Amino acid sequence: MPGHVAAIIAAAGSGFRFGADLPKALIQLGDRTLIEHAVAAISPAVNEIIVTAPASYLSQFQRLLGDAVTVVVGGQTRSESIRAGLAAISDDAKYVLIHDAARALATTELTSRILSALQKGEAAVIPGVPQVDTIKNVDASGYVISTPIRADLRNIQTPQGFELTALKKAHATNGEGTDDAALVESAGFKVLVIAGEERALKITTPADLAIAYNFLGNNQEFLTGVGVDAHAFEAGRELWLGCLNWPDEVGVAGHSDGDVAAHAICDSLLAATGLGDLGSNFGVDRPEYAGASGAKLLSETLSIITSAGFAISNVSVQVIGDRPKLAGRRKEAIAALSAALNGAPVSLLATTTDGLGLTGEGKGIAAIASALVFKVSSNPR
Ligand code: CTP
Ligand code: MG
Repeated sequence: MPGHVAAIIAAAGSGFRFGADLPKALIQLGDRTLIEHAVAAISPAVNEIIVTAPASYLSQFQRLLGDAVTVVVGGQTRSESIRAGLAAISDDAKYVLIHDAARALATTELTSRILSALQKGEAAVIPGVPQVDTIKNVDASGYVISTPIRADLRNIQTPQGFELTALKKAHATNGEGTDDAALVESAGFKVLVIAGEERALKITTPADLAIAYNFLGNNQEFLTGVGVDAHAFEAGRELWLGCLNWPDEVGVAGHSDGDVAAHAICDSLLAATGLGDLGSNFGVDRPEYAGASGAKLLSETLSIITSAGFAISNVSVQVIGDRPKLAGRRKEAIAALSAALNGAPVSLLATTTDGLGLTGEGKGIAAIASALVFKVSSNPR
């Protein structure tokens, strides 16, 4: 295939400095291991992936990564591991990306930028970020020899991209380097540095893992919203509250079943996501929602926010009124509200207002809710 791209992900290290009793690439970061993160991010941009693994973990890596990935045994050093990977690359590869499992959070976008520079004719393209600390060359006794100009320095990351012929030539002498570009430079090729990314940091110690974890969190946009609802009691109507029927209580007036707890939650979710409110989504001009249950409105609201790419972190609702007394059925109501939201965490509280206001005077019930949601996809709002 013209322009066939292979990726070698180096994951055969022991992770000595990390100090865990399993290889660093198998350390969990959020919902998956470092090697799984690295494979997932690079795979959309490449035609084949080769992973180097420690010999005794070969079958574990293969099980974890599936048949679409070729797993080979790595070498004693990183450079040897890369050569083991190179030996497994298919003949039709034109470009090769060399990546470290330890840089698990490098994005697909970074890989794409490296590939497009290669496709424009560069032989070697590597990502780098500006150097923050001043660097000194130091002699064996600890004395400074020189201070390179910081503005000219870059911290170099992976994935590094090469024309396969250039990388093969660079490795032909079985040299050792802390990255592949060092060998390619020595072989006389020009190496272009393009902008890297903070999240492509190399995870070496548990402290680095904590930083990487923050990048995962920051990736999720959290949003909060508040919703309020109140209904007046109306004799002769059934009372619905917290998705439960309250047989011995007077119901409330309203277009739907008047479940203030459910309605306040719906509004808090719509507020958090900026998707309108109960009125604009299910108002009186939508006769199909006349008499709709709180559970139905909750599940409809969930589907509105889900299709806009949001998920619920949690919701909390407080019911304000003298009756009904929620305490005895609190668990039941939480389960019912949560079920209507497909299992999202719900908390439910109740309070009275010391005889003040419409709820204190026994004229009705109110509820106030807050929701925390996060973006799970980049669907347009
Ligand atoms: N690596 C490799 N083969 C080796 C040594 C390292 O494939 N013989 C890989 C590591 O798995 C890692 C990457 O090269 O993804 C960068 O190496 P490093 O961050 O140093 O990882 P480790 O060597 O595992 O860690 P340590 O040096 O702390 O033992
Ligand atoms: Mg190492």
